[in-house]
Parts: sequence; structure tokens; C-alpha cells
Amino acid sequence: MADNGANPLRRPLPDGIVPEDEITRTEDRWFIVVLGMLGVMMAIIVATGTTHALHPPSNVETIDPITLHLGGEFAESNLGAAAEPDGSVTVRMIVEQYSFVPDCVQVPADTPVTFRITSPDVIHGFLLPGTNVNTMVVPGYVAEVRTTFSRPGDYAMPCNEFCSYGHHGMWARVKVAPRDQFPDLSPVERTSCAKQ
Ligand code: CUA
Repeated sequence: MADNGANPLRRPLPDGIVPEDEITRTEDRWFIVVLGMLGVMMAIIVATGTTHALHPPSNVETIDPITLHLGGEFAESNLGAAAEPDGSVTVRMIVEQYSFVPDCVQVPADTPVTFRITSPDVIHGFLLPGTNVNTMVVPGYVAEVRTTFSRPGDYAMPCNEFCSYGHHGMWARVKVAPRDQFPDLSPVERTSCAKQ
């Protein structure tokens, strides 16, 4: 072309050098791709948070880890599943090196269940696969998670925070009973299903 010499930007570039407008176009394309990915991730977080209650546990409630077993909410007689006046169920557990106390609890299906868990020693983890229940259990704090089991079945609960030598052996069970059978269970059956 005749004006190649007049406009330096129109000069052919040496091999291997990408023209600036090509770089800008590529950057714009990737900017849009990254924005799209962020949008999709935000949509997934908001959708699962609102429809499946999948969100970070946010209960902040302190308890003395030294004395928690001596009385009050986490005394031995209060552990396990307890029916509340409003029809919901509260499960209280102590998670310690290296066991869940109690190591099996029975809860009813189709009923709001609140787990209240604490640790007297180190950090443990409480997880029910396939549900929204997944929380760290930090000594000094009460972890609280709410869920509703849609059908009867057995859940294995592993400790999912490494807590020293016995960590791999820390397993327990949650047994979900049909809603109409739960009221007939004795307090012992509600907390000792592992022995049945
Ligand atoms: Cu308790 Cu790992």
C-alpha cells in the first residue's frame, strides 16, 4: 500500500510479534470468559445456599471445654436425640479423641433436626455424606447445624478433621427412622442404635 510508509502502525510487524489490537481483542475475550465463570460460580453458590441450605456454619456460641461434661446442656444424660415441644428434634453430641458420644443417634425423617455438637479436646469434623451437614467442631464453641432428612436410612459420620493418631477410626452413625416410628423409641434406643 502507498501509505504504509506514512503510518508507522500500518507497517508489517516482524515475525513473532503480535499486533497490539490483536492482543487487546484476546484480552477482552478472556475478560468476558472470566466474568462469565464468576457469574456461574456465584449463581451456583446462591442457588445451593437458598435451595439446599448449603452454606458455611455460622453459629458462634462459646462453652467451657474443661467443664462441659459436668453439667448443663452437654451432661451425659442430655446427649443424643431429644424431641422438642415444637415437634423438631435436637441432637446433642460430644466429639472427642477418638469417639462420637453417643456413637449412634436415631432421628426421625421429614422432621427438622438440629445438631448441637462440641469438643472437649481438639478440632474434629462432623459430616453426613449427601446432606448439608458438614461442620468443624472446635473446642470452646458449640457447632450447630440444621437439616431435615427426606427419607429413612443410615448415615455414617466420619470425623473429617485430622485429630491425631485415632482420627481414621472416628466413625459413628445417624440412623433416620420413619417419622411415625420415632415417638415410640425409648430414650435408650434413640442413642444406642449401634448396638441393635
Ligand atoms: Cu476426630 Cu479426626
